[in-house]
Amino acid sequence: MDQIRKQIKSVFASPIRVQRVPELVDINPRLKEIVLSRETVRRQNIGSNIGGWQSDHDLMQWDEPEMQIFNECLGRALQEITSATVADFPPEMDIIVTGWANIARKGAYTRAHSHDGSLWSAIYYVAAEPAPAEHPYSGLLSLIDPRSGARTVPKMQDPFGYNFDIQPEEGLLVVFPGWMLHEVHPYYGNGVRISLSANALIVPEMEVG
Ligand SMILES: [Fe+2]
Repeated sequence: MDQIRKQIKSVFASPIRVQRVPELVDINPRLKEIVLSRETVRRQNIGSNIGGWQSDHDLMQWDEPEMQIFNECLGRALQEITSATVADFPPEMDIIVTGWANIARKGAYTRAHSHDGSLWSAIYYVAAEPAPAEHPYSGLLSLIDPRSGARTVPKMQDPFGYNFDIQPEEGLLVVFPGWMLHEVHPYYGNGVRISLSANALIVPEMEVG
């Protein structure tokens, strides 16, 4: 069997990074306060976001010191996954990052969508209750297999399977390609679920001045 496995190539892989960020875990209570303090009354059900609240896409300009720490950690994570997967990143190109905050309460969910045009998308969990036993999919992040028509046989083994589900956990940072479809299952926790999202876009380097 080992010989046969050696003859099988794993192609068309998708890079997904899942990491705990201890530096951010320490400031999660403060990040939670910051996001909640900016929550406003606004129309629900915007785009793929059903029942939850999203901030404007100005997260990178929030000026609290803890947000600076978040920006640094996120920037480092994006730089590292880019260095690990992109050969000879064009020197005339820059990566710019935009971000926003999300608050979900019971019943909120996010329909399947992608962040087309972004090199990477990221989600960081500030507040996330474990899923209740009767709702194991509560708030689960599902990354959707982009290989159209691949689901011909159930129970394909890793790394050829179809599902990649991530149970939100406070302090977890997930980075995935912006083109990848993803969705968030309805949240059944009693408290708030808070995440920070970001897109990293590649743009031509601009001269300042
Ligand atoms: Fe998204």
